Amino acid sequence: MDVETMIATFEAERERALVLARGAATPEELEAARVAVLGRRSPFAEAQRRLGALQPEDRRRAGKVANEAREAIVAALATRASELEAAAEEQLVAADRIDLTLPGRRPPIGSLHPLTIIEDEVVEAFVAMGFRVVEGPEVEDDWHNFEALNIPADHPARTMKDSLYVDVPGQPGLLLRTETSAAQIRTMESQGPPVYIVSPGRVFRRETPDATHLPVFHQVECLVVDEGITFADLKGTLEALVRSLFGPSRRVRLGPAYFPFVEPGAEVGVSCFRCDGAGCRVCGNGWIELLGAGMVHPQVLENCGYDSERLTGFAFGMGIERVAMLRWGIPDMRLLIEGDVRFLEQFGGAA
Ligand code: DAH
Repeated sequence: MDVETMIATFEAERERALVLARGAATPEELEAARVAVLGRRSPFAEAQRRLGALQPEDRRRAGKVANEAREAIVAALATRASELEAAAEEQLVAADRIDLTLPGRRPPIGSLHPLTIIEDEVVEAFVAMGFRVVEGPEVEDDWHNFEALNIPADHPARTMKDSLYVDVPGQPGLLLRTETSAAQIRTMESQGPPVYIVSPGRVFRRETPDATHLPVFHQVECLVVDEGITFADLKGTLEALVRSLFGPSRRVRLGPAYFPFVEPGAEVGVSCFRCDGAGCRVCGNGWIELLGAGMVHPQVLENCGYDSERLTGFAFGMGIERVAMLRWGIPDMRLLIEGDVRFLEQFGGAA
């Protein structure tokens, strides 16, 4: 190969390289172009290998052309590489582009659960009257849930039919508390008189859910023990509670009832919010049964080491679900636990 042919090759290859580089549409095509024009088996490399065989003068002349051609080729490849890179970047940005003018999606604002609303109201009414709020454990023992509450071993409430027992090796008789009344015992065991407490919480019974029963529901227990507490104090407290829950025109009615831990025991009804005692579809006879109450049984006081000669007290226990159903006319208790937003958003208590 003579020197002129060689120089012509370098120059031709330079032109070819510029065309290939510009035509490369992807990094892969560009790499293929680089191999084609500068690779070991390219015409350029072939000619370059033969430079050594030339006379010194020719070699210098051809070498200079080769160097310039190579530099131009490398520069063209680099230019194209950065063009391709910029284009790829632009594409990525375009794919990720956010339209700031689109209206946003507002996250729905939650509201308090109806049971929370009622529980808060009851607790607040009692705190305003100077009561303390206590919480007992959900897993109870036989003593606090039954024995100390004067519920004898043969009482039907003890049977597996009503209670959910918890198997803990070495600790027989543990169960999920069946009523918040257990908190009465724990309170009196841990402090002396006077006692003015409310205790809200979950209770558990072996029930199949239906419109008026759930296996897990909520109660608020109230206990007062002091010197000179009478049935009139119970009635006055209930009236204050009922009016704060259902409005100032509600009347309270007490009827006889039996609960082992009170004597006398009473069933407390409230005049129907719909017909005010006349009798209607909601209440039947004008009254709605609301809770159980009574004067604390002397034996219960003694069980907790309180002097039943000197002290008297009253207690009551109220179902929160029942109050919520009455307040809002909820026809089925199961609605309260299904978590359906269409139901829950109707109560609107700010979270
Ligand atoms: N513990 C009772 C229940 O679950 C309700 C009750 C009745 C509580 C009378 C009391 C009471 O404190 O005196 O049905």
